[in-house]
Amino acid sequence: MTATQAPVKHEVKDLSLAQLGKQRIEWAGREMPVLRQIRERFARELPLKGIRLVACCHVTTETANLAIALKAGGADAVLIASNPLSTQDDVAASLVVNEGISVYAIKGEDNDTYNRHVRIALDHRPHIIIDDGSDVTATLIQERQDQMSDIIGTTEETTTGITRLRAMFADGVLSFPAMNVNDADTKHFFDNRYGTGQSTFDGILRATNVLIAGKVCVVAGYGWCSKGVAMRAAGLGANVVVTEVDPIRALEAAMDGFRVMPMSEAAQIGDIFVTLTGNKHVVRKEHFEVMKDGAIVSNAGHFDIELDLKSLREMAREVKDVRPFVEQYVLPTGKSVVVLGEGRLVNLAAAEGHPSAVMDMSFANQAMASEYLALNKGKLEPGLHSIPREVDTEIARLKLNAMGIDIDTLTEDQLHYMSSWKEGT
Ligand code: ADE
Repeated sequence: MTATQAPVKHEVKDLSLAQLGKQRIEWAGREMPVLRQIRERFARELPLKGIRLVACCHVTTETANLAIALKAGGADAVLIASNPLSTQDDVAASLVVNEGISVYAIKGEDNDTYNRHVRIALDHRPHIIIDDGSDVTATLIQERQDQMSDIIGTTEETTTGITRLRAMFADGVLSFPAMNVNDADTKHFFDNRYGTGQSTFDGILRATNVLIAGKVCVVAGYGWCSKGVAMRAAGLGANVVVTEVDPIRALEAAMDGFRVMPMSEAAQIGDIFVTLTGNKHVVRKEHFEVMKDGAIVSNAGHFDIELDLKSLREMAREVKDVRPFVEQYVLPTGKSVVVLGEGRLVNLAAAEGHPSAVMDMSFANQAMASEYLALNKGKLEPGLHSIPREVDTEIARLKLNAMGIDIDTLTEDQLHYMSSWKEGT
């Protein structure tokens, strides 16, 4: 598993996959023009020179382009997986062999290995942590108080991680700045919605090859990720049902044209289920019990806690591997429930995650948030910080430019109108 000839420390599956990984990283890079421009500027300006950095991300072709940009900016970076099933082993190998970046990530690693990699990353004594789900930050706070003084700050990629950071701050344990990448407009409007929308179906389809048209697709939650999934399910011809606990989001789903009902009802009619709530046991025993025979159940939320698979395992008389990332749980009644990707993020477990073109903006935010932390070392208050509006706008401008789209600019007269209050009816 671990080869020794590579110059940097690593734990990856197979270094001989490096050439394939390199080709795929370059392919993804073609769709990442904004990150490329940042990488080129980083190489000139070296804003991360002298910074020890840990990135805990899904180890994909897109993340590889981020890691290369960070290294170009001068960072001494270590990359670990943010999910045991999301690593692309060829990408991990290429980063070690071709880019000289330390990577600790193996697709299918068990939880113990995953947690050990988090500790190895912390042994790097990071100044900056790029987190996806806040596992490194949470471990640092719980186990490495002696390293707190090294920390300049963290940047967080995902909704779940932001929820955890808010809880850390409320508990009084977040003693450094944390950049809220998830809430940048150029992140969640695109990555969460269009990225999750497309890649979740990519995962479901690669795993099962089922026809979506005519199926009842139950989407749990109606945040940005769920909106993308519901929208794409409808586009593929599914009959979409949304479940929610938040009245405003439920209303929005209803007015977007979806049926809204409690999971207890949806469980009885759904053919395909996708959870994206960030909460635990959204689909549980009482729901599995009433599902149709052959119902397909998957999760696209950050952690694998949304489906209560422990209960399903206890209920099942037999569990069969029927295809890669497809397990059939046979219940005593003879009916089956089909689970995709062990209840982990189906888009990353069974497919390749979000397409490069949206990760371009997410990772542009990550790179610029890291630079912002480095430039403002010691000046930012502890707690969550928004990505500065001018950074968000600049990323959108670069993306439009790369897409060949021009937009209007305000005239002098319009500028004046927007800043005055005297002109009315
Ligand atoms: N999260 C979702 N999709 C991803 C991707 N392609 N790369 C890294 N993180 C992701």
